This record gives sequence, structure tokens and C-alpha cells, in this order.
Amino acid sequence: MTLLFVSEPDPGGRWRAALEAERPALAVRVHPDTGPVEDIRYALVWRPPAGLLASLPNLEVVFSIGAGVDGILSDGSLPRDKPLVRMVSDGLTGDMVEYVVCHVLRWHCDVEGHAASQAKRVWTPRRRRPAERTGVGILGLGVLGQAAARALLPFGFAVRGWSRSPKSVEGVDCHAGWDALPRFLSQCDVLVCLLPLTEETRGILCQRTFAHLPHGAYLINAARGGHLVEEELIPALEAGVLSGATLDVFNTEPLPQDHPFWRHRAITITPHDASLTPIESGARYVAGQIERYEAGLPLENLVDFERGY
Ligand code: NAP
Ligand code: GLV
Repeated sequence: MTLLFVSEPDPGGRWRAALEAERPALAVRVHPDTGPVEDIRYALVWRPPAGLLASLPNLEVVFSIGAGVDGILSDGSLPRDKPLVRMVSDGLTGDMVEYVVCHVLRWHCDVEGHAASQAKRVWTPRRRRPAERTGVGILGLGVLGQAAARALLPFGFAVRGWSRSPKSVEGVDCHAGWDALPRFLSQCDVLVCLLPLTEETRGILCQRTFAHLPHGAYLINAARGGHLVEEELIPALEAGVLSGATLDVFNTEPLPQDHPFWRHRAITITPHDASLTPIESGARYVAGQIERYEAGLPLENLVDFERGY
């Protein structure tokens, strides 16, 4: 069986070695060295060129290298009669949990403020707001959102989450649906976005949403650039509606050199590396799904094309 690996940023050779180690019967080709297309049964992809997947006549299953599949669904010619499996791996989840906890604590402990004081050699003790009176809200209570929410609980934060369907996560104040959004937002001193990018969620991080947050709330977007209406962020920061933002994802990546976010004092930028799918655990997951599929068992974590995630 042959798998085609397609990703510009990922190291194809390392993925091939890891996949073949997990499943020696699998032959892995790395795009653009596609070889005879008739052989290809599986594709493992990150933002594949439009039309590529439709050009594989014997393709059976598409696997996403990422948890988010917007860069695959955006291909209008994507064969929708083939299953699309998204990435769920302990390594990916663990890295995202670290990122969220790191940036929530960085804000909570005012690491930036201390660094500024040190640069001026001034001794400025800062009293923190008690964690239990600090609301940390997570947009998206899926695999990553729930893991991040659980990891924040031991610090004592008032952790809240918002999802499409009702959820029950011990210790987390769960809200569901658009009607519940304003009340949820009104209790979030920090807002973390971990939603998939869909027609419904595009542009959710906008002035209208910010207006429901407590004045001076902090934003962390680790989901997709399309969630943020970029031109509404700096005005919200300048007006004090938001006190700062950590952004891992952008409408255009890499973020263009002349983008105003680079220079803004209240914006922290990371280069879409909140959680890069770890190669070994990612390969183990894909090999495991192929094993299930070839044994006639149902694939897991299938994307619902109607919902878009
Ligand atoms: P997931 O398990 O599919 O969870 C998605 C969550 O979003 C679910 O709770 C879902 O609600 C909720 N949701 C979707 N549409 C909604 C809507 N219209 N209203 C309210 N809630 C909605 O996804 P995941 O694995 O946690 O990943 C989330 C996203 O993180 C990915 O799609 C990707 O964009 C991003 N990501 C970024 C990085 C990075 O490095 N920056 C790495 C990995 C992932 P239900 O539970 O009700 O379905
Ligand atoms: C990364 O952005 C992912 O979706 O896994």
C-alpha cells in the first residue's frame, strides 16, 4: 500500500522514516515525487495544492497532518466521498496545553511588566489578582480546548468553556451555542481561541465580541488567523478594550515584514508553532488508523464535511 505525503513546511524524509518504521508494509512517497498515481491509496497532507487529491484515482483515505482541516477543505475539488481523518495525538495536545498555560501564566504574572521594570532598573512589586477571581475562557471545548481547560484548573483559575453542543467537564463552567456567548464572554479576563475555522467561526474575534469581555481582557489566539478580524485588534488595544494579545496564527503566514502586529507593544507573536504535530506520535496515529481501516474497523476522528470540522 502506498501513502503520499504532502506538506511544504514539514520534513517529508523524517515523516517517511517514521511511518515506514511504524508500518513496514507501507510505501511512502513524498510530494512532488508522486510516482505512478494509480498506486496511491492514502494521502497524509497539510494544505495540499488544490486539485492534487482529486487527481489520485485510487485514493481511499485522506489523513490530515494538522488538527485543523480548513487548509484541506478549502480545496473545492476535494473528493467528499473519501473519509478525511484529522490529527489527534497526545504529543500535539500536550504541546498546545503547554502553550496555553504558558501564555495565560505569562499574562497573569505580568512577565512583560517585570521585564520592562528590569530594563529600567526599577523595583516595582506587583500584586497579582487572585486566580480564583480570574476568569479564563476557552472558545472551543474539543480535544485541545478540554485538555487546556483541565490543565488550567489546578492553578485555581475560574475556567470556562464555550462549544457548539453542551458539554460537561468537571470543574469547568461550560456554555454552548451563540445565545450563550455574550454571558460567557462577560466572565473571561483571558479569552483563548481553540476553535476550528469554519464558515460559522470565521471572524469571531472581532470588535463586537471584544465588547462583551471585561474591559482590558487579554486575548490568546492559537487556532487560525481567520478567526481574528485583524484590522479590529489594534483599535481595541489602543482603546483599552483589550490589554494585550498573544497570536500564533495569522491571515497571511509567514506574517508579512511590514505588518503592524510585529511592532505593537501589546502584541506577542509566535510563528504558528503553538503545537506542531510531533512526527513520531503523528506517524504512530496514522499507522494505527491504517491498521484499523485495513482490518475493517471504523476510522476515528472523521471530519464532518457539513460542519466543516
Ligand atoms: P475539535 O476537537 O474538533 O474541537 C473543536 C471545538 O470547537 C468543539 O468543542 C466544537 O464544539 C467547537 N466549535 C466548532 N464550531 C463551533 C461553533 N460554531 N460554535 C461553538 N463551538 C464550536 O478540535 P481541536 O482538536 O480541539 O482543535 C481546534 C483547533 O485548534 C483546530 O481546528 C486548529 O484550527 C487549531 N490548532 C492550532 C494549532 C497551532 O499550532 N496553532 C495546533 C493544533 C490545532 P462541539 O464540541 O460542540 O462540536
Ligand atoms: C496546526 O495548526 C494544526 O491544525 O494542527
